[in-house]
Amino acid sequence: PNNILQDSHDRDHTYLRISLVERCNLRCFYCMPAEGVPLTPKCDIMTYEEIYEIAKTFVDHGVTKIRLTGGEPLIRKDISFVLEKLASLPVELSMTTNAVIIHKFIDTLRSTGVHNINVSLDSLQKEKFYRITLRDYFETVYSNILLLVKEGFNVKINAVLMRGVNDDEVIDFINLTKELPVSVRFIEFMPFDGNKWEMTKMVSFEEVMSTVNTSFAENEIERLQDAPNDTAKNYRIKGYKGSFAIISSVTNPFCDSCNRLRLTANGQLKNCLFSRSESDLLTTLREGRSLDPIIQKAVQGKLKVRGGMDTLEKLQEPKLHGQNRSMTTIGG
Ligand code: GTP
Ligand code: 5AD
Ligand code: SF4
Repeated sequence: PNNILQDSHDRDHTYLRISLVERCNLRCFYCMPAEGVPLTPKCDIMTYEEIYEIAKTFVDHGVTKIRLTGGEPLIRKDISFVLEKLASLPVELSMTTNAVIIHKFIDTLRSTGVHNINVSLDSLQKEKFYRITLRDYFETVYSNILLLVKEGFNVKINAVLMRGVNDDEVIDFINLTKELPVSVRFIEFMPFDGNKWEMTKMVSFEEVMSTVNTSFAENEIERLQDAPNDTAKNYRIKGYKGSFAIISSVTNPFCDSCNRLRLTANGQLKNCLFSRSESDLLTTLREGRSLDPIIQKAVQGKLKVRGGMDTLEKLQEPKLHGQNRSMTTIGG
């Protein structure tokens, strides 16, 4: 094909997620093993110029949307340079962040056109926020969400639901959308290296909907139109300013419409969130060779569903999780 970003299942890849940094200022247990992960030496992390060069290659081949992730993207020392460089490309720039320090970047985010901001927040309770993240930043994150809304950003809240941890907060999160124009997204807990995932800890799409059905009448629950290539199924309680959604990667994967590629902070291309092989774009760039053939080969090798874990049986094989990275260095 002349479009090197089209895979062998006819999927066009127009959305690139770039992890800017491996480190994070929170310690969420579902994302990172307690002992942490080995970090790449700084010299092997992409500089902002390299991020720009690689991103530009993708944009030249049809990428129209870039989402910046981490670790925590905002703790990168040169984040303003990264944003300014990427803002010069003809793409929609967005970010997924824990929002702990985002109040310091409101002007930069606005001037570089980062309008869509997804904030990870797994609990509305201070104590529980601490239990999940091992950091005492609940109030900061919550007030920063209000600040982002006030400043006119398009805000989504990501809550990874885990049984016995925060599955009792579904209705509290939905109640938040009564007055707050945000989209709360309940995410099915997914397996990654070192996150001690078990199927029984995962709270499914069906369970969330049955909880919603116990608190709201059928005619109050409105199914919304999903955005093209959306990861989420979107709903609104009638009359509420915000909406809620469910991301069902486990029980109902949306891989048929996948348009995503991922670039890790150390310059490796992952063709899927669950890919177990990576392609070294950074070394290729540093050697002055063309990225195109490597990108094309990586995209061609993309498997149909969840990096080959197409059944629930395969999704439960720890050996396969061990061949992927820890979520904290993938960036979601
Ligand atoms: P939008 O651009 O607002 O649609 O956000 P997003 O859902 O693409 O990204 P976000 O970083 O907010 O991720 C929310 C959840 O969706 C996280 O748990 C991600 O791991 C998951 N997610 C994002 N992209 C993919 C994907 O391509 N495949 C799967 N299986 N999950 C994904
Ligand atoms: N399962 C599902 N979502 C996860 N995230 C991090 N780890 C997991 C996991 N194991 C989410 C974060 C963040 C997004 C990028 O990915 O909550 O919002
Ligand atoms: Fe795309 Fe892989 Fe996510 Fe499926 S699991 S939607 S193929 S990135």
